[in-house]
Amino acid sequence: MKRRTFIASTAAGLSALALPNTLFAGKKPTTSQPFQFPKGFLWGAATAAHQVEGNNLNSDYWLLEQLPNSPFVEPSLDTCDHYHRYAEDIKLLAQTGLNCYRFSVEWARIEPEKGYFSRATLDHYRHVLLSCLEQGIKPVVTYQHFTCPIWFSAQGGWENPESIDLFARYCEKVTQHLGDLISLACTINELNFTAQLDAKNFVPIERRRAVMAAAAKSIGVKHFSAAPLGDPTAITNNILKAHHKGRNAIKSVRPQLPTGMTLTMVDFQAVPGGEQKLKQLRYEIEDKFLEAARDDDFIGVQAYTRELINENGFMPVKEGAEITQMGYEFWPNAIEPAIRRAAAVTGIPIYVTENGVGTADDKKRIEYIEGALRGIQRCLEDGLDVRSYIHWTLLDNFEWTNGYEPTFGLIAVDRKSFKRSVKPSANYLGEIARSNSLPAD
Ligand code: BGC
Repeated sequence: MKRRTFIASTAAGLSALALPNTLFAGKKPTTSQPFQFPKGFLWGAATAAHQVEGNNLNSDYWLLEQLPNSPFVEPSLDTCDHYHRYAEDIKLLAQTGLNCYRFSVEWARIEPEKGYFSRATLDHYRHVLLSCLEQGIKPVVTYQHFTCPIWFSAQGGWENPESIDLFARYCEKVTQHLGDLISLACTINELNFTAQLDAKNFVPIERRRAVMAAAAKSIGVKHFSAAPLGDPTAITNNILKAHHKGRNAIKSVRPQLPTGMTLTMVDFQAVPGGEQKLKQLRYEIEDKFLEAARDDDFIGVQAYTRELINENGFMPVKEGAEITQMGYEFWPNAIEPAIRRAAAVTGIPIYVTENGVGTADDKKRIEYIEGALRGIQRCLEDGLDVRSYIHWTLLDNFEWTNGYEPTFGLIAVDRKSFKRSVKPSANYLGEIARSNSLPAD
């Protein structure tokens, strides 16, 4: 199948690369004792509304999925029907031993028309939260995970400066209705995603413009902008302001609710000669956003892979490297350098809000999780304030432009019957969660 992805890299014929020794500087020999995580450490799995709920009809991504020349290989449709099956899913999550669930509430459902907030939808999410609490699960809520209402994108989306106030109003309404039940609030998922996509130029600007023009035409408006495909400079400027105003709106309703953003991060590694380029790229894609998070209560760190950088920028995946279903490198150590970077730049507590791997081989998922947790162990041993490991993802689900082929889930979902099957990786992670400790290496 033709693979289209926002962030995948393609393997190309490159000879072995000499990497500087400092890359592994954080590593220490592991001990022969199990490693005990701090009391209260959150162990969880994450989802996003559009990827699991199904029939997100009023969202901009639904519209993009339906375009004749859509960048999506297939549409989301019913996906996992999590909108109706959330109680079963939360119960499964709790049964594995995990103690937290990160999910997003869907703006396109809550405010399907500008200024109209659906009481019924807000009540639905209240039931989801209550379901978590009944199962002893701490709810981590993302207010916006990529998708927006169609009306919002049809008036310029995040490119329109009005987006800042609109997002803040939405945050206020959601918090008024749900805030008392939420443990941790993430305003916007991967605030830096548009900047990352643009720096990588994975989808050329002409193609992004053509998709936005086709979307505008399909609903008879002049301009349509859905991140990450719109104008990157305008989106980044406004989305950072929207985060701050949204955070303040949440805190105005519930001052004690820990609130922050989440960022997509990469283990950037320079090959000799690429050091300057790495600095520049890292500033544009990560550090600029990390600096803007310094006043927040926490930073949500999300990392999946590494990227090699030479003097010209991103390099293709090294020949012979093991790659995931996403086309990028299988790199369990991605999360450790991301945590270290986030801690160094922000100085605030770190929650790992996503980390995982697209693979059809569940043994590889277990290997990936173990590798990631060893990295978190080293961070904790060095005194870094890391407070969670939330795995991406609970269910095999709609992986955006790649459709249903990549499977990141701890739980498989039959696409026809919606039957859930818990994978060994879920029990592996659940056992660690139950004991709050990682067995000796
Ligand atoms: C996103 C998820 C996505 C995952 C795997 C993260 O960047 O937040 O929505 O499914 O990566 O690609």
